[in-house]
Amino acid sequence: MDPFARAHAGFCAAFGTEPVGTVFAPGRVNLIGEHVDYNDGLVLPMPLAVGTAVAYGPADNAAVEVVALDFDQARDRFVPHAVAPHGPADWRSYVRGMACGAPGGVRLAIAGSIPRGSGLSSSASLCVAVGRALALARGEAEPAPRAIALAAQRAEHEWAGVRCGIMDQMAVAAGQDGHALLIDCRTLDTRQVPLPQGWAVLVVQSGVVRGLVDGHYNARRADCEAAAQALGVVSLRDVDAARLATARLDPQIARSAAHVVSEIARVETAVAALEGGDLAALGAVLRASHASLRDLFEVSVPPVDRLVDVLNAAIGKQGGARMTGGGFGGAVVAVMAATEVERVRSALEANYQPPDGSALSSMIERASGTAAGMHA
Ligand code: GLA
Repeated sequence: MDPFARAHAGFCAAFGTEPVGTVFAPGRVNLIGEHVDYNDGLVLPMPLAVGTAVAYGPADNAAVEVVALDFDQARDRFVPHAVAPHGPADWRSYVRGMACGAPGGVRLAIAGSIPRGSGLSSSASLCVAVGRALALARGEAEPAPRAIALAAQRAEHEWAGVRCGIMDQMAVAAGQDGHALLIDCRTLDTRQVPLPQGWAVLVVQSGVVRGLVDGHYNARRADCEAAAQALGVVSLRDVDAARLATARLDPQIARSAAHVVSEIARVETAVAALEGGDLAALGAVLRASHASLRDLFEVSVPPVDRLVDVLNAAIGKQGGARMTGGGFGGAVVAVMAATEVERVRSALEANYQPPDGSALSSMIERASGTAAGMHA
């Protein structure tokens, strides 16, 4: 059953009444622009067909009552103005983070289809879907994408302790089927960039589940901030390759900064490639992005590198693959001609085994968006 139907049915079962409505927010895959959002850079994520559905309705008290259908029907019940972050972050932290400070009297049932630990933004999807459901349940208008994205980012910072950028939340809140979303993370201006007809985006799970990454993530972010400070700029967005070449930085910080500065330029190349229908040019920047994340920013891991290599070998010059998301495991994204997908998948089956022993799992997004589907 899809998450929409599961959320609806789960609400009825948990609360003994029909929900007033059900909302959905997608997951996202980042095509390119990795670890640049918190440097005020440009990013190019794309919403996925998988996501989170939240059924909502009124409660006859001041609390928010929640059932999480993917966690054995686990429940939470809290009064929004009386909660504060505590303990390790879990699904409850995100729901509380989105609800805190606002009126209660709401029931929610949550069901999702994003593989956990895959780096496909299950937490941003959860936050945005919950934020929409809470607003509609209170009889308010659905919040604008930018407002809900900022609220979801705040929940991640304050309730989960991850100092993430704004890419995931904006992609989830403002992304459109079959389009990549160019986000200027400094101004939050966005532009929908259609995926050319005949292209396909394949998202493959590496089988390395991301875990305990928050420390690494926050440390990389601190390196970027140190680089900007040493260079006397607000953020690395204000630096170009020439300026970086003459700077005297600690070698590790210099490598991180070199990744960020070159990655922002690659996003611009990628947008031109999408708009010009140039698959070979897009493939070249995807491969360069992976090499930079692996060698300069150092957020890849060997199984992910192997998976990217297998994909790039199978795809050839007409497209390419790279790690996607924060790193240290998770998923890989590949872009190719739609006609090549089955051949590339066969090559994957023959040449890559997820290290956790799981079956190879992938999903496809196409230009129309509607043809997207899971494959496990
Ligand atoms: C995670 C964060 C994003 C972004 C990516 C890396 O997904 O949540 O804000 O920084 O990592 O590009």
